[in-house]
Amino acid sequence: MTVYFQLAYLVGAVLFILGLRGLSDPKTARGGNLRAALGMGIAIVASLLYPLGDSPDNFIWIIGALIIGAIIGWISSTKVQMTSMPQLVSIFNGLGGGSAMLLAFVEYLNLQKGGQFSAGLTTLTILFTLLVGAISFSGSILAYLKLDGKVKDKHVTLPKHQFVNIILLLATIAAVGYAMFNPSMTSLIIATVVSLIYGFSFVAPIGGADMPVVISLLNSVTGISAATAGYLYNNQIMILGGILVGASGTILTVLMCRAMNRSLMNVLVGGFTATGAAAAGAEGVDQGTVQPTQAIDVAILLNYAEKVIMVPGYGMAVAQAQKQAKELDEVLTKKGVEVLYGIHPVAGRMPGHMNVLLAEVDIDYDKLLDLDDCNSNLGDTDIVLVVGANDVVNPSALDDTSSSIYGMPVLEVWRAKKVIVFKRSMKPGYAGIQNPLFFKDNTNMLFGDAGATLKAILNELKTLD
Ligand code: TAP
Repeated sequence: MTVYFQLAYLVGAVLFILGLRGLSDPKTARGGNLRAALGMGIAIVASLLYPLGDSPDNFIWIIGALIIGAIIGWISSTKVQMTSMPQLVSIFNGLGGGSAMLLAFVEYLNLQKGGQFSAGLTTLTILFTLLVGAISFSGSILAYLKLDGKVKDKHVTLPKHQFVNIILLLATIAAVGYAMFNPSMTSLIIATVVSLIYGFSFVAPIGGADMPVVISLLNSVTGISAATAGYLYNNQIMILGGILVGASGTILTVLMCRAMNRSLMNVLVGGFTATGAAAAGAEGVDQGTVQPTQAIDVAILLNYAEKVIMVPGYGMAVAQAQKQAKELDEVLTKKGVEVLYGIHPVAGRMPGHMNVLLAEVDIDYDKLLDLDDCNSNLGDTDIVLVVGANDVVNPSALDDTSSSIYGMPVLEVWRAKKVIVFKRSMKPGYAGIQNPLFFKDNTNMLFGDAGATLKAILNELKTLD
């Protein structure tokens, strides 16, 4: 009988892997998501029906929890704005870690009550799951609060915070070790609380442009906690699913570190500091004169251009300006202008954010240039339209050693003949630093909501035929 369940797990596992494979390319991502969801459905049903000998069934509790969880998940997924998707992903990630933590908590108590407690591998696995799950839970909640703008880095960062973190890490290991050799409700609660505090404190000093790295790292930590929880229940699909999440989260962390040109250690130990000229600019110190422009002037420039690159950023998501960007692309393409898009790997607030936005309006994938391709195309580009991007086009990443984003590869848009920046004000982007691009001679600022200004350009272009 169990062979059928093992087969169902195998089918689920293959669907997970095919799903992940599909997610690696925007063209196949939708299908990949559906395959992974089908795999998860099969895994859940097989786990529910798996024969467990004399164990009592808890179907009422399980199905009740499934229904409540499904309703909450469904409502939040349908209501969430595209711009808040990263926060939602962070919360869902944290809840995964929180579940693993609760499973470990219950298993520890079961062992203790059943009188089978010994400081062996099982207890070590339980406490490891508790530790990793708790870190992922509280860390992800803080990441959510930061991404949502509810908490600022400086409000949760102490002086010498990395030193505080080392002390807290040692305290966490000591509390978990104590719970291993001195089983009691009190030692378990202390280990849980200290692990939760460490998770919060671990994420606290990491902020600004380094957030993509910490988000993918938390993702992989949740995967590890799910895998060890699966080991506790001897549930192969849970182990495999956890390992896949852990491994893909780790690969993403490495890719994000590469995108920032930082080592993981540098991100974790460096903390967030907006210093030097860049930070001074954010506080309003004069960086030069900006040259504002109007929709009609941009329309005239575009009318005579041969090659245009659009660089979308977080502001495009806020303005939901992708539809107008697509319309502008169509109008210009009809006029014989070559239109391309420069995509920075950490533009927006989640990996692949810009690809998702542009895919929503069916922009041809062949027009999307990655960082290196875009940079090598910029020399012969007439106009770059920077639509709601800021940190990812900041030249201080290349030439200001005191900048918090120094060393991060950026889209070098200032190498084009003309740059038009679409934004609403002179406020800094996510990293909280001023952008010298805005003060360059070949840059003009088009102030206003990107959706409205793109629309205004489209209207002007129509009158220029
Ligand atoms: P940001 O540097 O955050 O800049 C976005 C810009 O959009 C702002 O300067 C803002 O200026 C403008 N904006 C906002 N709403 C707008 C609207 N309605 N119309 C026009 N402009 C608008 O964005 P980016 O260049 O995409 O860089 C991403 C940043 O987020 C990086 O620092 C990255 O490290 C960080 N981050 C990324 C991720 C991932 S995984 N991608 C995750 C977390 C953090 P105004 O307010 O003046 O309009």
